[in-house]
Amino acid sequence: VFESVPLAPPDAIFKLTASYKADTYKQKVNLGVGAYRDDDGKPWVLPSVKKAQSALIADESVDHEYLSITGLPEFTSNAAKLILGADSAAISENRVASVQTISGTGANHLGAVFLSKFYEFAKLGADREIFISNPTWANHKAIFSAAGIKPVDYPYYDPKTIALDFEGFTSTLRSAKDNSIFLLHACAHNPTGVDPTREQWHQIADIFAEKGHFAFFDCAYQGFASGDLDRDAYAVRHFVSKRSIPLLICQSFAKNAGLYGERVGALHVVSSTPEQNKAVLSQLSVIQRSEISNPPAFGARVVSMILTDPNLLNQWQEDVSTMAGRIIEMRKRLHSILTEEKKTPGNWDHILKQIGMFTFLGLNPEQCQRLLEQGHIYLTSNSRISMAGLTTKNVEYVAEWIDKVVRG
Ligand code: LMR
Repeated sequence: VFESVPLAPPDAIFKLTASYKADTYKQKVNLGVGAYRDDDGKPWVLPSVKKAQSALIADESVDHEYLSITGLPEFTSNAAKLILGADSAAISENRVASVQTISGTGANHLGAVFLSKFYEFAKLGADREIFISNPTWANHKAIFSAAGIKPVDYPYYDPKTIALDFEGFTSTLRSAKDNSIFLLHACAHNPTGVDPTREQWHQIADIFAEKGHFAFFDCAYQGFASGDLDRDAYAVRHFVSKRSIPLLICQSFAKNAGLYGERVGALHVVSSTPEQNKAVLSQLSVIQRSEISNPPAFGARVVSMILTDPNLLNQWQEDVSTMAGRIIEMRKRLHSILTEEKKTPGNWDHILKQIGMFTFLGLNPEQCQRLLEQGHIYLTSNSRISMAGLTTKNVEYVAEWIDKVVRG
């Protein structure tokens, strides 16, 4: 019966992890998947997470019952406060529908399915499309296509300047039909590491307000951009509190809590009235029930404990800034080896300017291929490197190879 099933290509990012694992070369380096590593190249269990999970395991009152369909209430309500701010009027006015999801991917999926069912494209005069940045996270296109919303690129990154194409981005915002949906990366853009400045976010928000666009925020790196959880929530909070732009937020705790495998995330849909909010939550619940019944408990309990215990919260803030700080150190080190020691041709200042887990090196696919095949340095073919894969022990080796492939 499956004779006509065509073989699908492997996932570009996870294939890199598998190839890296299979490689026996001693100096191999994995700069593919966006997962934090310590300076020994090892996965890092955050001290705050360690404490919370030990307390949970020791607590005999914790059982293994189902969570409710929308997830653990202490988790979803505190996760909403984390992104929107504890003083958020949208929260106090009962206008935020929060649902626990299978990490950020699940939040994107649930948001996409919800909009596909309930966003009134025809009535609003918008096409059944979502505008996504060019480039964007490799999974966005697949998620929206599967939900029946066509992904359409908007200009975002200018390869000539290795920076934001603000002109191209804002002119697409202006020329798109009114009430269109645009996906925005809340901070630490994946894959480019290029974020708008605050002033640019204000201008972007102004256009959203003028045009009635809907903002689909993907927030997978809160804390990773600046090391400060509140600072990284700036764009979302500006859109919600200052401009009342219709929006939803997909939130992941994979990166900032190092809970990759636990799949801890949330979808927050902001409505304009508590009545709408009630209806939205009820429909999200219906979709969730048919797809996963109810989300997994353990990771959400860990995050919820961290968010509600002042000591653990302090520790977590320190942990997040430890991760962001190490990444910033690696940016400085890589930049200084290339510019001062090797005098590699070209301008490498974008390594310092880009934000968060990734740097977009600006190399061509052939140069990336050489890094991979000859240098055993694993990166995606668009020249994105996960800065978290660099350590004080391998940064010289990586810089040497970048220098080699740039010189040709
Ligand atoms: C990445 O972009 O490397 C991560 O977000 C992992 C993933 O799911 O693709």
